[in-house]
Amino acid sequence: MTQIKPAVLVARAIFPEVLDKLRQHFDVTSNDGDELWSPQEFAQKLQGKAGVLTTGAERVGPELLAACPELRIAANMAVGYNNFDIAAMTARGVQATNAPDVLTETTADFGFALLMATARRIAESEHYLRAGKWTRWSYDMFAGAEVHGSTLGILGMGRIGQAIARRGALGFGMKVIYHNRSRLDAATEAACQARYVSKDELLQTADHVMLVLPYTPDNHHTIGAADIARMKPTATLINIARGGIVDDAALAQALREQRIAAAGLDVFEGEPKVHPDLLTVPNVVLTPHIASATLPTRLAMAMLAADNLIGYLIEGKALTPLNHPASA
Ligand code: DGY
Repeated sequence: MTQIKPAVLVARAIFPEVLDKLRQHFDVTSNDGDELWSPQEFAQKLQGKAGVLTTGAERVGPELLAACPELRIAANMAVGYNNFDIAAMTARGVQATNAPDVLTETTADFGFALLMATARRIAESEHYLRAGKWTRWSYDMFAGAEVHGSTLGILGMGRIGQAIARRGALGFGMKVIYHNRSRLDAATEAACQARYVSKDELLQTADHVMLVLPYTPDNHHTIGAADIARMKPTATLINIARGGIVDDAALAQALREQRIAAAGLDVFEGEPKVHPDLLTVPNVVLTPHIASATLPTRLAMAMLAADNLIGYLIEGKALTPLNHPASA
């Protein structure tokens, strides 16, 4: 007797090997054309589906949950999950999962790359060269900020923050200070060679401020005009966390007025739209949310999301749960 497989939806185009794995267990509907669905189209595609693999961009909130009563799990192939309304999912008995750990080192590499590119003005000087403007050398041409031996301030000291701290302290001899909702235990602080400080002290003393905290409504615009005003005029600001943590309009104005030296941004409020003022200031490096973008890491993220669907719907237990709904 053939068993009916549960139906799952894969919301965006992903690796064929992940689809093959899912097909061993599920009746899979995949978005092979990588279409961007409206919330209504997403709800319509989800009809009759027990699970969905999301990428971090598709919103799973009360309206979608009400429209999709058969949904039992949403598995994000991202560590961030601000696209999920966890309380609403829990209330509806829907399991939420994310994809932690597998992207930690890759994302930390990128955070450091963006810091280096920003502090050492790599993008700005490359544009200058490509535009044919390089006709002579001068002693202060594209002089940037020192990275080695400087003070790195990390806001948000989870797994990725800690991996960045290790790179800074052990690789570049930086003094690392951090601020986090809760202080790390002494052993973890020692392994990262990081010192806990207040947010104010971090902003005032860091040469480079790195944002790695999760987005929640509470930390919307955690870095606004007043916070930027506390930073050193020579400082750089790097955001690899989430759009909305920084007030992008205030940042663009501060960069234009050179109230801080430079910024490196991988994430934006309302992305993929970028605040137009950021596009016209030279002292900012802009990348399109690619901090975890290596193929091995993206594959591992997608596989973990798939394993969460299999774990929960077939074996009864998610691997990396974010909530514990009553029916779980
Ligand atoms: C994450 O995993 O949250 C990243 O931002 C996605 O690339």
